[in-house]
Amino acid sequence: MNDRERRRRAIRRFYDRLGKLLDTQGFYEQSGLDILVREGRFNQAHDVFEFGCGTGRLAEQLLAGPLPVDATYTAVDLSPRMVEITRERLAPWQNRVDVRVSDGSTHLDFPDAGFDRFISTYVIDLLDEEEALELISEAHRVLCRDGLLCLVSITNGTGLFSRLLMSSWKLLHRFSPLLTGGCRPVRLPCLLQADEWEEESHHVISRFGVAMEVLVSRRREDPRLQGERSCA
Ligand SMILES: C[S@@+](CC[C@H](N)C(=O)[O-])C[C@H]1O[C@@H](n2cnc3c(N)ncnc32)[C@H](O)[C@@H]1O
Repeated sequence: MNDRERRRRAIRRFYDRLGKLLDTQGFYEQSGLDILVREGRFNQAHDVFEFGCGTGRLAEQLLAGPLPVDATYTAVDLSPRMVEITRERLAPWQNRVDVRVSDGSTHLDFPDAGFDRFISTYVIDLLDEEEALELISEAHRVLCRDGLLCLVSITNGTGLFSRLLMSSWKLLHRFSPLLTGGCRPVRLPCLLQADEWEEESHHVISRFGVAMEVLVSRRREDPRLQGERSCA
């Protein structure tokens, strides 16, 4: 087993054990999700994909809120327990929902241009940089023309208290990644190439000193594929 597989196994075990308790982090995480729901133009979405859906709280917010009644929601998560919780939570929409357990791979088993929203919230901060770049590249492949990449992550602090807290978080993560649930502050815009993505909105906020970044970027068209990737 290589390092990556070992790390994924540890992350799966952590989130399987955490289960519904993951939602207790909502006291700070929810502010980032609310901004994403506002900025992601979900009332115009038809096919939404989420990488690392956790307990399905964002999916529920979208399905009960802005998503059109015929929009579909597809998700993967490394943790079978999280997938079970999400499926239960989204039972009222089961005809439009497909939630799968994954092996944690950032190579996605979905066709090109099948989605118009690609969401990942508080997951990129768990991936190493190489995995994060692979995931962004897959997001570009599975999104159709003008599709939106919708990301939320913890990030570096801004004010004094937040800077102190997030620096301590990084130190703790370096000491033992599982003490922080595997996540550490990252800078989302650094992962996106300007010729592939056009930034639509970018917010950095802080709640109780925890700094979060919300980034919505539009997939730029590859001129070589013009006309071939639009959503049906
Ligand atoms: C911090 S939780 C965030 C969950 C949810 N997105 C939210 O905002 O509440 C991270 C989630 O990502 C999942 N995860 C971590 N690494 C993953 C990977 N490589 N592939 C798929 N899911 C992953 C975990 O199992 C967990 O459910």
